[in-house]
Amino acid sequence: MHLSDMFPKSVGNADSRLLIRRFFGETDLALANGHEWRRRRKIANPAFHRSMPIKLFSNLAIKAFEQIDKTEGPLDVNNLMTRVTLDAIGLAGFGYDLNAIGTPDGEWVDAYVDVTEHLLEFPYIFLPVLETHLLNFFPKRRAKHEKLTKLNNLFEEIIKRKRETLTMKPTDTDDGEKDLLTLLIESGRGEDEDSEPLNDSELRDELVIYFFAGHDTTSCTLSAALYYLAANPAIQKKARQEALEVLGDEARDVVPTADQLKKLPYLSQVMKETVRMASPVVDLITRKAAEDTELEGMVIPKDTAITVDIAALHYNDKVWKNPGVFDPERFADGGEYESMASKYFYLPFGGGARQCIGMNFSLTEQRVLLTAILRKYELSLPEDSIHKDGLQFNSNLLVLSSKNVTLEFKPRY
Ligand code: HEM
Repeated sequence: MHLSDMFPKSVGNADSRLLIRRFFGETDLALANGHEWRRRRKIANPAFHRSMPIKLFSNLAIKAFEQIDKTEGPLDVNNLMTRVTLDAIGLAGFGYDLNAIGTPDGEWVDAYVDVTEHLLEFPYIFLPVLETHLLNFFPKRRAKHEKLTKLNNLFEEIIKRKRETLTMKPTDTDDGEKDLLTLLIESGRGEDEDSEPLNDSELRDELVIYFFAGHDTTSCTLSAALYYLAANPAIQKKARQEALEVLGDEARDVVPTADQLKKLPYLSQVMKETVRMASPVVDLITRKAAEDTELEGMVIPKDTAITVDIAALHYNDKVWKNPGVFDPERFADGGEYESMASKYFYLPFGGGARQCIGMNFSLTEQRVLLTAILRKYELSLPEDSIHKDGLQFNSNLLVLSSKNVTLEFKPRY
């Protein structure tokens, strides 16, 4: 049996009247198992392989700079990074401009944030019957459902229009800058059973999971990276020096090429160390043993729920030297990561067949944003920062985010 079939993901309550199920849909790439997962992954792989929207990310950096320059005093980094990554996935996912950077209180951003923040709300998560049978008695909860209905209508409309446009006139945009919806429609035209194209409702569910799995994770990572750079001036200086050597030190914003982005080894070390210390996904989605299994001498009875605690691995002092210290040198050539007994001690993006499909998308987004910011600003922690003695976290049930990171941005041009 295929290893991922031996430990399929366990989906939880599948009642389609729950807000969480209405939001995620029947299934998606992150939750599907067996044949259905293989089919979706096969269609999505080429789309993610081709997508490399560097220009799009650079334009978002420039829009973010307008907001930074308008702000007096320390800037709320979590808030700005959330808006940047929402716009990134709106445009790169659907080709739709949510304009979260320019209009943070816009209708769609509000609807999306309000629905996703309440997916796992108490008491509905513990007493689903309140939502499935008694929703009319809970007007606040009903209001979330109404917002979701509007969002679903928007998604449907976008998909319908995209299909119409592609039928009338195939796009001549560079593959790298095409949105994922276009790439999914194009790549799901295979002949065999596994690549039977996605229908409109399946396309919606795929795009929703990319949105969900992609924007919060990347925004938490970017906020944490900016914090670590501000808190470690020598590391910041070295990362800026590298960015200036590759992209030049002219007093203007530049769009990097894909080749230039590959020549930033020190920045990559900083990014890797950031997701070691501030992995937004703290544990893998729960799996269930499909049958009695023995793994490394341990008997796992059928139906046992299993997860991997990523945060515990990343802070394990039997594996890492001084795991509480931010040190990008761990990931340098010949550094401690290279000589580790197993690469599975470090799992920010999961591993094996079900490794994160959006990893390169997110790494490209991070590289573009971080180099643009390093070229344009010097970062520092405000005197009264609550993070003076280390990054403080704010845990909701889904991703680990840092608590109100505010930073000073001093323009270099
Ligand atoms: C810093 C950013 C990100 C981190 C740390 C991250 C982390 C992860 C992890 C740990 C998994 C494995 C989950 C498991 O096996 O239980 C995963 C899977 C996944 N991620 Fe990401 N992710 C990030 C960005 C993205 C982006 C940008 C997208 C999409 C645009 C995305 C889409 C997905 C999907 C669809 C899966 C499921 C893949 C499958 O099961 O075949 N992620 N991610």
